[in-house]
Amino acid sequence: MHYSIAAAAMLCVLAGCGAKQEPRPILMKKEPFGTVEGKPVELYTITNKNNLETAITNYGGIVVSLKTPDRQGKLADVVLGFDNLDGYLKGHPYFGAIIGRYGNRIAKAKFTLGGVEYKLVANNGENHLHGGTKGFDKVVWSAREKAHNQLELSYTSKDGEEGYPGNLAVRVTYTLTDNNELKIDYSAATDKETIVNLTNHSYFNLAGAGEGNILGHEVLIRAARFTPVDEGLIPTGELRAAKGTVFDFIYPRIIGERIGTNDQQLILGKGYDHNYVLNAAGGALAAAARVREPNSGRMMEVLTTEPGLQFYTGNFLDGSITGKGGKVYRQRYGFCMETQHFPDSPNKPEFPSVVLTPGKTYSSTTVYRFSAEQ
Ligand code: GLA
Repeated sequence: MHYSIAAAAMLCVLAGCGAKQEPRPILMKKEPFGTVEGKPVELYTITNKNNLETAITNYGGIVVSLKTPDRQGKLADVVLGFDNLDGYLKGHPYFGAIIGRYGNRIAKAKFTLGGVEYKLVANNGENHLHGGTKGFDKVVWSAREKAHNQLELSYTSKDGEEGYPGNLAVRVTYTLTDNNELKIDYSAATDKETIVNLTNHSYFNLAGAGEGNILGHEVLIRAARFTPVDEGLIPTGELRAAKGTVFDFIYPRIIGERIGTNDQQLILGKGYDHNYVLNAAGGALAAAARVREPNSGRMMEVLTTEPGLQFYTGNFLDGSITGKGGKVYRQRYGFCMETQHFPDSPNKPEFPSVVLTPGKTYSSTTVYRFSAEQ
């Protein structure tokens, strides 16, 4: 083949001869996902260079799908959820959603701040759970593609919403890195003293969503203590040593190994539904947990800046929900690792504080890192 010098030079410009070319990033895909209260809702799909793919909607900031490879490189969607928006609108136990203003429970749906008692919506018996009847999981967030692999969601929660004081401006950024991590950065600012505790409520099944229960998964949690609960799943205030109990995951243990034990705390939770006091005290990003699914070889590591981790084994799933691909979600078909401040902290002065004052910024980061053992 013969090229003129000009044509060769032109090809060089196009191909970037000489300089080593970085592969072009795969762009984020944006598709309509439906409407909520007249507002359009989108589905954003981010793919990394290793073919990991996540789809996130700005309705509730829900992680709709997350496809990760097994040891043969075969992708499976490892989070529970629905194929379309309708599934989410029909009601579900917080699949993949951003939880706020307060992740987990606040006893008797009230707390006192600056001498004022605030009454929240009681949506879990007499208690307040996951932000109330219309928490951050059910609102339409503003979305912005911050980078090819970064989706920034923002929402301003009004003073008095679900009973909480202060206008709270919240920002959640999802980043899918080329290191196979889904990174979630949360930040918030208020104009009046308030409380904040944000998390993500993804239900994982590393064998694939709907592919049986999670009892065969192996779990390690870097926590020597956990917060035992009462009948309403409110922490008693005790920080109990996990060592020598069915709550000890300091060394990797199979979830199903001890879940059926006649243990008072397991009975109250109908399985694991407890907050772990992470050994890393919170503040810097630190390894919190690791989960391995032996058949597929898929692994997930959880890193967080938070002091706590709610380990929930999908105890309330009961087969009444049919999810993606027509698969039925039965009890223990998914597990959650919700990074957080401890439940009921607003009423437990001895727990790390969840108070946010004007002029300060709440910030929190959690990373879910995926790999496959060979
Ligand atoms: C959290 C709680 C559970 C349950 C689920 C949602 O993980 O700790 O008790 O409410 O959310 O069903």
